[in-house]
Amino acid sequence: MTVSHLTTPTDHRAQMIEDVRHGLTAYRKHLASKYLYDARGSELFDEITRLPEYYLAGVETEILSERADEIMPEVQPDELIELGSGSSLKTRMLIESMYRNSNGRRYVPVDISEAVLRTAALRLRNEYKWLEIEGLVGDYVPDLGKIRRRGRRIIVFLGSTIGNYVPTLRHSLLRSVTDALEPGDAFVVGLDLVKDEPTMIAAYDDAQGVSAEFNKNILHVINRELGGDIPVDAFEHVTRFDRELVCISQSLRASRKIVANIRALELTVTFAAGEEIHTVVSCKFSRPQVEEEFGAAGMRLNHWFPDDGDRFAIAMASLE
Ligand code: SAH
Ligand code: TRP
Repeated sequence: MTVSHLTTPTDHRAQMIEDVRHGLTAYRKHLASKYLYDARGSELFDEITRLPEYYLAGVETEILSERADEIMPEVQPDELIELGSGSSLKTRMLIESMYRNSNGRRYVPVDISEAVLRTAALRLRNEYKWLEIEGLVGDYVPDLGKIRRRGRRIIVFLGSTIGNYVPTLRHSLLRSVTDALEPGDAFVVGLDLVKDEPTMIAAYDDAQGVSAEFNKNILHVINRELGGDIPVDAFEHVTRFDRELVCISQSLRASRKIVANIRALELTVTFAAGEEIHTVVSCKFSRPQVEEEFGAAGMRLNHWFPDDGDRFAIAMASLE
């Protein structure tokens, strides 16, 4: 097992400084959702996946357990690359099926959160002695092309994380997936589907307030990493459905006027009472739209595996 960095910690920090400066000085303030995930953020996300309101994780697990043995015999991969692997829990079904069906042993989890990646990799190593794990800490957006190939490849992107990208960024992300594929390879992606608004909203605004705590974690990350004094408790978690973009949109709203300093940026930021910082979108999908988006990026949808209630789907695509 190895864990290495795709981006050096120095470059990561420089990027963060640039992103946060750009986001907090914009007319409409925003922060990139990848900064939600430090060690604590990853823990909170795992807690979310166990909440009754967050149906996504349970349904995706159910689909994968039913379909893993359809996916793997068709692709016969030697290696499984996973984008935003987190705790790698659901991936186990795919890893086991890959080994059973094509004797594939190579697993390459890519995650921006080193803590969660290391924990997951150690657990997998202890359970699957035959598994060759090459963990990569970094941002899969710029770095997907840097991953060296060892045979036939399946790229996996679970948890509807693809929905955390607005359409333009999603298109370039899908294009870089296309570039990382060769004929015979496959892309497998988990997608949350459009459904009634109360169900979608509750998944991001649970009764226990875990989603709220997760969303606010981004401010703790900035305070710690960049020497900020943002009063986190003065912000409220806001969740709404954006019908134009077909996504859940989350933000943090200042409950009063706030003046905060961020030392590493040598920046003083003011928030008017009621002003919001946009943090994350979670776009929701339908089959025709996914077919079109794959097509535009040079891929063809080969399989669509929804659950019985059409809440979530696993899509499988390959080069056109
Ligand atoms: N796949 C897991 C985790 C989903 S949460 C599941 O389905 O449960 C999203 C994961 O992607 C987190 O572990 C987060 O750290 C990681 N992540 C988010 N943005 C990223 C980026 N730009 N590059 C690499 N990893 C990223
Ligand atoms: N990938 C997750 C999703 O879109 C991210 C997420 C789930 C999230 N719950 C959240 C982000 C709450 C911020 C706050 O479903």
